[in-house]
Amino acid sequence: MVLQQTLVLIKPDGVARGLTGEIIKRFEQRGLKLVALKLVRVNMDHAKQHYTEDITERRGEKVRSMLLDFITEGPVVAMIIEGVDAIENIRKITGATESKSALPGTIRGDFSHVSFSHADAKEIPVRNIIHASADEFDAKHEIALWFSIDELCDYKRADEHHVF
Ligand code: PPS
Repeated sequence: MVLQQTLVLIKPDGVARGLTGEIIKRFEQRGLKLVALKLVRVNMDHAKQHYTEDITERRGEKVRSMLLDFITEGPVVAMIIEGVDAIENIRKITGATESKSALPGTIRGDFSHVSFSHADAKEIPVRNIIHASADEFDAKHEIALWFSIDELCDYKRADEHHVF
């Protein structure tokens, strides 16, 4: 049993489209537990610490620059979610990074559709609604970047005895 915490962000497009409640519902109904939650405006310095230089290596400078503008263009909902194998479970609920490839039933697959090739041709970011930490290393780093320890809430879900 691996009890994990992971960082989830509802990006500015998800907040602006009023999808916050719908997205949180999907995690809660799966039995995953919210342990921290806030609505924040992200400044450029913070954005650069989240989307670090290694994105430039993987995706190129232009994509990183678009991503930084995208994540700072409006408020973001940041949350920490906890559960058994939470990182893998949440990445599945989130869906593939490219909206076009995300399967229906996932958050990206139900609420977005644009391909990387279309976005590249138009020089716009793929507005894929949500971010979820990729692995344990990223989750640890990202949780520490977005939250201080006193923002986490320790409580029991009513259905926790079904799991533990
Ligand atoms: S992933 O899912 O973490 O493996 O994604 P990765 O391929 O490493 O990409 C890192 C983040 O870059 C985002 N990305 C883009 N955003 C907008 N437009 C384009 N073209 C684009 N290409 C990659 C991708 O969504 C990842 O951000 P997050 O916040 O994790 O979704």
